[in-house]
Amino acid sequence: MPGGMGNSLRAAALLAFVVLSILVSLLISSVQQFGARISHFSNATLAGDDDGGDFASLRGALIHQLNQRRKEIIPLLLPDDDDDGDDDDENRLPGESRHYFQLDQDPDSTLDNSLWSEITHGSRRAHMDEMGCDSLVDMQAVEVLGSGYTKLVVKVRLAGGQPVALKLVNEQGIDMGKCVEDFKDPRGCRELVSYKLKKEIVLLQRLQHPNVIKLKGHCAGDSGGGEGGEGRVTVILEQGNPLQMIQLLQSPWEDRFRVCLDLVRLLHFLSQSPLGSVALLDFQPRQFVTVSGSLKLTDLDDASAEETSCQTDADCTLQFPHRNFTLPCSARGVCEGLSEKRNIYNAYRYFFTYLLPHQAPPGLTHLVDHIMNSTGELRADINQTLEAFEHILLLYKSGLHLDNLPPSIIRDYTVMRGMGTSGNVEYRCWPSYSQQGCVLSVHSAREAALICNSHSQCSSFTLTGQKTWTGRLLASFRSSFAHLVPDGTSEVYVKKTTAPETSTV
Ligand SMILES: Nc1ncnc2c1ncn2[C@@H]1O[C@H](COP(=O)(O)OP(=O)(O)O)[C@@H](O)[C@H]1O
Ligand SMILES: [Mg+2]
Repeated sequence: MPGGMGNSLRAAALLAFVVLSILVSLLISSVQQFGARISHFSNATLAGDDDGGDFASLRGALIHQLNQRRKEIIPLLLPDDDDDGDDDDENRLPGESRHYFQLDQDPDSTLDNSLWSEITHGSRRAHMDEMGCDSLVDMQAVEVLGSGYTKLVVKVRLAGGQPVALKLVNEQGIDMGKCVEDFKDPRGCRELVSYKLKKEIVLLQRLQHPNVIKLKGHCAGDSGGGEGGEGRVTVILEQGNPLQMIQLLQSPWEDRFRVCLDLVRLLHFLSQSPLGSVALLDFQPRQFVTVSGSLKLTDLDDASAEETSCQTDADCTLQFPHRNFTLPCSARGVCEGLSEKRNIYNAYRYFFTYLLPHQAPPGLTHLVDHIMNSTGELRADINQTLEAFEHILLLYKSGLHLDNLPPSIIRDYTVMRGMGTSGNVEYRCWPSYSQQGCVLSVHSAREAALICNSHSQCSSFTLTGQKTWTGRLLASFRSSFAHLVPDGTSEVYVKKTTAPETSTV
C-alpha cells in the first residue's frame, strides 16, 4: 500500500534477484560439471572389469527402487476407463517413450511407459486445456522461488507474458545427493527422483481444491534437445508466494486467522478426498504458498492415502516430539481417523499455536481458546474443528461479537460523508495494514470510535471504503489533518472535544 514500504521491498527484491541470479548461474555451471563427471564415471566404471559386478548390483538396487516408486503411484491413478479405442500414440508427449532404462533393456520399462502415459492421458481426460512442453517455448526465467530436498521451483514468464511456477528435480537437493552417493548413477537417480514429481502430478489431478495449488500442466522428456533429458519432468503450476511465518506473525489477526481457516478447510477436504483419508507426512509451513492471500498446499509428494492396519489400540499411536496419542483400532483392523488426527495435531503445532491466539478480538477469545484446547488435545475431529472456525468467521463478519458497543459512542464524533483528508499527521499502531500510519479493520464506525477512544493520539478516523477479505472496513486513524477534501468513497469522523479548525478546499 504505502510508497515507503514499496520502495524498500523493491530494493530488497532487487538485491534478492541479483543474489538469485548468481545462485542460478552457479547452479547451472555445477550441473554442467556434474554432467561431465557422470560421463567420466560411467566410462571408468564400464571399462574396469573388477567393478563390473558391483555396478550390476547397484543397478539392480536402483531398478528395484524405481519399481517401488512406480508401485506407489499406481493406486493413486484414476480407475482405467479407457475404452474409446483412440490411437493414444498420437498424443504422446516428446520424450515419453525415451526412458533411460528402456534403452538399457530393463524388462520392466514397458510398465514405466504405460504408467507414464496413464498419468498424461489421465490428465488429458481430466483437463483438456492442460499446458504441455509447447507452452514452455520462449519462456523467460524470472527468479528462483524456492527449493527443498527434492525439487527446485522457478518463476518463469511464458511467451504470452503469463507468470507460472515450474517444478523440477533439484539437482543440488538432498534426494539427488543421497541417491548419487548410493547408486553412483546421476541419470538413473534423476529418473528416480522424477517419480516424486510424477506422483505429485497425479495427486494434484486427483486432489483439486481451492486450497491446493493449481496444476496448469506438465512437460515430460527431452524437449530442450539437450543431453540426459530422458525421464525428465517439469510441472507447471500457478505461481504463489512461499509462506513467510515471520511476516505472518506481524500481520493483523484477520490475515492470520485466514491462513488457519484455509488450512482447516483443506484438511477437511483431505479427510474425505477421492483417494480416501489423506495424511500429509511432511507437514511444515514451507510446503504451503499463498495466492492472493489464500493458503495453498504445494508439496504433495509426501501425501499418503494409506491406512494403518492394527491388531490393538497400541498399534495406533501418533508420536510427536512432546506428545503421544493412542487412537482406537477399529473392528476392520485399521487405525480409525489416524491420518485426520495427525493432520489436525500438525496444524495445531505448526500453525494455530503461532497464528491464532495472539491479538484475537476480545469477543472471540473464548472460541479461539476452545479451538486451541480441542485441537491441541485431539478431542475434536476435523468436522467439529471446521464448524468452530466457520462459526468464528460468521461472528467476525457480522460483528455479532461486538454486542456491547454503546450506540452513544459515535455521538462524540462529527461525521463528514463524501470527504477525505489531506495534510495528515499520522501515528503508528500495531498491527497496522499500513507501515506509515495506523490502519485497522473495523466492522462499523462504532467499532472505529471505540478504537480511536482507546488511542491517546487519535483525534479522527476515516472509513476509506476499502475492505478486507472478510468484508470488514479499513479505517485510518490519525492525530490531526490540515484539510478536508472531497472524496466520494470515504467518511471522516472527527472527535468533537478535540476537533481541530478545518477548512474545506
Ligand atoms: N507454486 C509455487 N509458487 C511459489 N513458490 C513455490 C511454489 N511451489 C513451491 N514453491 C516453493 O518451493 C519450495 C520447494 O517446493 P517443494 O514442492 O516443497 O519441494 P520439496 O519437495 O523439495 O520440498 C517450497 O518450499 C516453496 O517455498
Ligand atoms: Mg517441500
